[in-house]
Amino acid sequence: MGLSKIIQGCMTYGEWGKQLTTHDIAKRIESNVENGITSFDHADIYGGYTTEADFGKGLQASHIQRSDIQIISKCGLQLPSPERGNQLKHYQYDADYIVAQARQSISNLQCDYLDVFLLHRPSPLMQKDEIAKAISLLKSEGLIKAFGVSNFSLAQIDYLSSSVEILYNQIQISCTHLEALENDHLYGLSQRQIQPMAWQPLGEVFKLDSDHNLKICLSELSSKYNLNEAQLAIAFLNKLPFDILPVIGTTSVERSRLSMEATQVDLELQDWFRLYEASRGHEVA
Ligand SMILES: NC(=O)c1ccc[n+]([C@@H]2O[C@H](COP(=O)([O-])OP(=O)(O)OC[C@H]3O[C@@H](n4cnc5c(N)ncnc54)[C@H](OP(=O)(O)O)[C@@H]3O)[C@@H](O)[C@H]2O)c1
Repeated sequence: MGLSKIIQGCMTYGEWGKQLTTHDIAKRIESNVENGITSFDHADIYGGYTTEADFGKGLQASHIQRSDIQIISKCGLQLPSPERGNQLKHYQYDADYIVAQARQSISNLQCDYLDVFLLHRPSPLMQKDEIAKAISLLKSEGLIKAFGVSNFSLAQIDYLSSSVEILYNQIQISCTHLEALENDHLYGLSQRQIQPMAWQPLGEVFKLDSDHNLKICLSELSSKYNLNEAQLAIAFLNKLPFDILPVIGTTSVERSRLSMEATQVDLELQDWFRLYEASRGHEVA
């Protein structure tokens, strides 16, 4: 199972965003697959625990086969919810809960199995043996193909990986959020043969003032490469030597297609450094 070079994030497909109909979702799945975007990112909590089921209905209504796509989902975040007995936002990672959430996601998504199952955020109370027990059971039943984490530090990854194999870490990285690059996290992942996925891969580029250095730089490079700002943000990540998989959040089929196109762009060396310098606010030493 390989993931596509661009992963379609589904966080705002439903109640947390565009409230797409079953027909709309089916069309987006079909168009993305036509454009080579075969991987879709979910979490149990999206849409207040409703978006996976919306997507499942869309998948059934589409002409796409389950085996033509890869589905990623996450568990571990508990949102305040009277039905769940949750008085506050918290994390939960006991084995029974992890297994039950994975089964629930698979049922909601109507997808038989998850290609990748991630722990959404690290918990100070997580216990590696409980997690390993859950992941081993889910794998043995064929309910998940691969396991990973999200927003984990290298120390947290090392704590877990003595008990369970971790293949992915989904982290925040973009041309406006360089922390994972600056603190060597990406090198640490590479050393551990863990592939990064990038959430919010466009960063804050659409929120920058027009006189911000990065905005000016993006605008100049847009003309030079005939790419929009979102594509340049993807090309910026793509040039890093870590095989980062951007998880894009757009609900627009055309913007998704353009993001996929951007994975073919190789920014010139000094153009990459222009973006880097503009983001950091100062030249390299
Ligand atoms: N693991 C985690 O903790 C975590 C956290 C957050 C998100 N995620 C995952 O990552 C995915 C992406 O996150 P994100 O939504 O923050 O990512 P993003 O791709 O950086 O941002 C997407 C937003 O930018 C807008 N946009 C895209 N292209 C645009 C353009 N050319 N002009 C103007 N606006 C544009 C989109 O609106 P339109 O829909 O209108 O295009 C959307 O609101 C989520 O869907 C989710 O799957 C994971």
